[in-house]
Amino acid sequence: MKSNLQTALGLKCGIVQAPMAGGPTTPELVAAVTAAGALGSFGLAYSGVDLIHAQCREFRELCASQRLKPDCGWNANFFVFPQVPEPAHAEVANAVKSLQPLLVRVDIDAGTLTHDTRLPVLRDQVAASLEYQPSLVSFHLGIPDSRIVDNIRDAGVRIAMSATSVNEAIAVQAAGADFIVAQGYEAGGHRGLFDPADADDMLGTLDLVTAIAKRCTIPVIAAGGIMNGSDINAAVNCGADAVQMGSAFLTVDECGSSAVYRSVLESMGDRDTQITTGFSGRPARGIRNLFIDSVDNMALPFPWQNSLTGALRKAAGAKNDFELMSLWAGTDYKKARNCTAAELIEILQHEMRQE
Ligand SMILES: Cc1cc2nc3c(=O)[nH]c(=O)nc-3n(C[C@H](O)[C@H](O)[C@H](O)COP(=O)(O)O)c2cc1C
Repeated sequence: MKSNLQTALGLKCGIVQAPMAGGPTTPELVAAVTAAGALGSFGLAYSGVDLIHAQCREFRELCASQRLKPDCGWNANFFVFPQVPEPAHAEVANAVKSLQPLLVRVDIDAGTLTHDTRLPVLRDQVAASLEYQPSLVSFHLGIPDSRIVDNIRDAGVRIAMSATSVNEAIAVQAAGADFIVAQGYEAGGHRGLFDPADADDMLGTLDLVTAIAKRCTIPVIAAGGIMNGSDINAAVNCGADAVQMGSAFLTVDECGSSAVYRSVLESMGDRDTQITTGFSGRPARGIRNLFIDSVDNMALPFPWQNSLTGALRKAAGAKNDFELMSLWAGTDYKKARNCTAAELIEILQHEMRQE
């Protein structure tokens, strides 16, 4: 039976390749997923308008060269950045001090660390993406302004928003979303909590999907720890309409994850993941490393910490020093497979039918 997401977006299967801001979701990946009949997603949270145009244009060219329908489904994803006041000078100095021992390791000076105060403007980001006819626009970390929701709806595009609790899901439905992305505790990357100062229910994906499906009427997309066909079936059995998978796509050929990131995902099976605020100031799950062990809980609020640690993470990436990189991954990342995106989608559908 077709899911609501499949029917609404004209997909061959109810699988969403998760949006992953910061490099993984290349035009090649989104086009390959789309061509295979699942939903490809761009993580555009940190992208300015020019980059959004460049990425979407490249995606559209790839679609045309693969002779896909011009309205082929894809998802544009954004963060709802919180309005957090700029931290005081003393706070920044403290945060820099906590990074000091790590700076030595990659040979960079504390003076090169800056916290950029220019945030992308969500309204402009969304407007740029709408020029390339996404079939879905999704939001993470909160609910956007109602005028943005109205603009998307006026363009005839569906809307999804993440929720990590039943209360957030109820708010998402009330805000006029078409789909709720139920993000469980296993999920890699940033937790979609609206306010990280609130108590976190820490519900696993299956429990969260079950609870949200009981209380909400709009379809639920399950996210977190879903790596194979059996995981997909389990989520559907709990009431999920479709699934969103991030870590499973980090090791496919078309993904933009760096060589060192991939080699950690593929070979560091002895390392668990952990939720940390150290990299960005908001809780996010990644593979445990020296950075997480050193900096956890000494961070500026998001997004200030994210830009403060940017130069350090970039320097570590350039030196292939995975101990200081943000290696976002879900709890089950060890099950990720090395193949093409189309092969992964084929394998997943085969596994779903096998059960
Ligand atoms: C590297 C990485 C980056 C992510 N970036 C985003 C993002 O930009 N927007 C978003 O809504 N979710 C983001 N997520 C979370 C995913 O949407 C999804 O909830 C998560 O990947 C599901 O868990 P899994 O990794 O176990 O599949 C990211 C996840 C990862 C692994």
